[in-house]
Amino acid sequence: MVLVKTIKELKKQLNALREKGSVGFVPTMGALHSGHISLVNQAVHENQVVVVSIFVNPNQFNDASDLKRYPRNLEADLKLLEPTGCDLVFAPEAEEIYPEPDTRIFDFGPLEQVMEGKHRPGHFNGVAQVVSRLFEIVKPDKAYLGLKDFQQLAIINQLVRMLKLPVEIVPCNIIREKNGLAMSSRNELLTADERGNAALIFKTLLRAKNLAGTISVRELKNEVIETINKNPFLNVEYFEIVDFENLQPVKSWSEKGKKIGCIAVFCGKVRLIDNIVLN
Ligand code: PAJ
Repeated sequence: MVLVKTIKELKKQLNALREKGSVGFVPTMGALHSGHISLVNQAVHENQVVVVSIFVNPNQFNDASDLKRYPRNLEADLKLLEPTGCDLVFAPEAEEIYPEPDTRIFDFGPLEQVMEGKHRPGHFNGVAQVVSRLFEIVKPDKAYLGLKDFQQLAIINQLVRMLKLPVEIVPCNIIREKNGLAMSSRNELLTADERGNAALIFKTLLRAKNLAGTISVRELKNEVIETINKNPFLNVEYFEIVDFENLQPVKSWSEKGKKIGCIAVFCGKVRLIDNIVLN
């Protein structure tokens, strides 16, 4: 495993490796956990060459204090990556990715007008800027993205279609703590008490899955929000039941297609997201 910090060095290393076969790519912002590692393991399993990027992308943070607080620990990340068998770790500085400010504006239409897009203005534009830049640098055959960030996955699929990029996006399952809490770099910022209470999020999503179809969509939404808000540690920002494909809000269970419940919850200052397929 080789750590590279510049695009020039990455390209040099990759050019030598590319002839081995397909290149798998896992973009991350570091503070790695078993969720990230499961993506890397899958990439290693399905490709001959694997690149992992670690870059806390300032452009996708719409909240300056969130960016400042975001956990960073390259040494620990490298320790976790070493046993996976990935080939290259690309950990650039911001100037490397953005030698000049990236002023591109992407239009994802209705996809970005709900949930994360609505509550974090500019977030997906920043994600699109960095992901398109990273894809252009790495030129992967396959890129591995977690279903935990369900809307991000939909946006990146759309980005790939819009830019006609020759990359296959591979969605990967959500990895959870023992208590059900979806793993996240931001979990590191929770106290032990908060972490314990945050388990209620997934517990409630599981209950929602059981209740789906037995009460109305509106009642189910209220039920989930009330249950979680009753916990003094938790405060729901949104819970939406949306179509799995177009991410638009579902009004009735009779609408056709797969439906997914997506949630954002503040646990103290830390914002957590999760989701569950409801049918
Ligand atoms: P980050 O939050 O570091 O996540 C990197 C990848 O790991 C994403 O595809 C995310 O969905 C996946 N992931 C995170 N937690 C997971 C879990 N518990 N189970 C499965 N997969 C999980 O998402 C980003 O970084 C950035 O927005 C990025 C795409 C790198 C662009 O900057």
